[in-house]
Amino acid sequence: MKTEALLEQICEAVREAGELIRSSHSVEEVKAKEGAANFVTKYDSMVQKFLIERLTALVPDASFIGEEDGYSEGRIAEGKTFIIDPIDGTTNFICGFPVCGICVGLAERGRAEIGVVYNPYREELFAARRGGGAFLNGKPIKLADHRLSEGVLCMDTAPYTPEIRKESFERLLKLSYLCMDMRSVGSAALSICYVACGRSAAYLSPRLCVWDYAAASVILTEAGGMITGWDGNELGLTTGVSVLTGTPKAHQEILDSKILD
Ligand code: IPD
Ligand code: CA
Ligand code: CA
Repeated sequence: MKTEALLEQICEAVREAGELIRSSHSVEEVKAKEGAANFVTKYDSMVQKFLIERLTALVPDASFIGEEDGYSEGRIAEGKTFIIDPIDGTTNFICGFPVCGICVGLAERGRAEIGVVYNPYREELFAARRGGGAFLNGKPIKLADHRLSEGVLCMDTAPYTPEIRKESFERLLKLSYLCMDMRSVGSAALSICYVACGRSAAYLSPRLCVWDYAAASVILTEAGGMITGWDGNELGLTTGVSVLTGTPKAHQEILDSKILD
């Protein structure tokens, strides 16, 4: 199947998965996972299972990395690997805060080639394939190259590793004086997509897993944005990394400020 057609099919599967989230009435059976304040619900598993079935039918020889149910240890294969976060923003989901993203990335030979991130509550679907541009609900998105002082800075707290929070907040305090204001969306993937569509100038997190950012990274770079580690180096597709994203200008300003060194 051609990449363009495959992207369409992935978008369809992700939209259908969104229905599972929208039709959830109460979030019973919240289970704790490894780390602080790290939870999983039956919907995380349900959405991941649904996606694995649908995506296997589309690309039978693909491997899977997913956040839930034993898929997190998977490796990026030489061939095709789907990277799934069934609900990015589980804490929001549990609290009834209507902001979360269903994320599907497709990597080939270690590079993310396709990315789809869907917020089922706002029915906003971000999609991109490498070299094919980025889209929000079918309309092309290209970011305006805002400076940090011209936009908001989104951040995450690394909720599951509280031991790094103090240091991280000290850096964030310094950065807060360089931007219009700070925001915390509660979904890393959507935060990255918000940079892509111009809602924020930059986003950073001290610690993300590959399923948090793989899909969104394609959307961001296709929209003209930057994604690196806090050291400014290329990220690759790995887990447990600090992530800095932004418009080219805001990304460079943050690196130049040396606040993340
Ligand atoms: C989390 C969200 C959150 C970020 C955490 C992620 P999850 O994903 O993206 O915004 O701060 O680091 O783990 O656990 O809800 O899929
Ligand atoms: Ca996540
Ligand atoms: Ca998740």
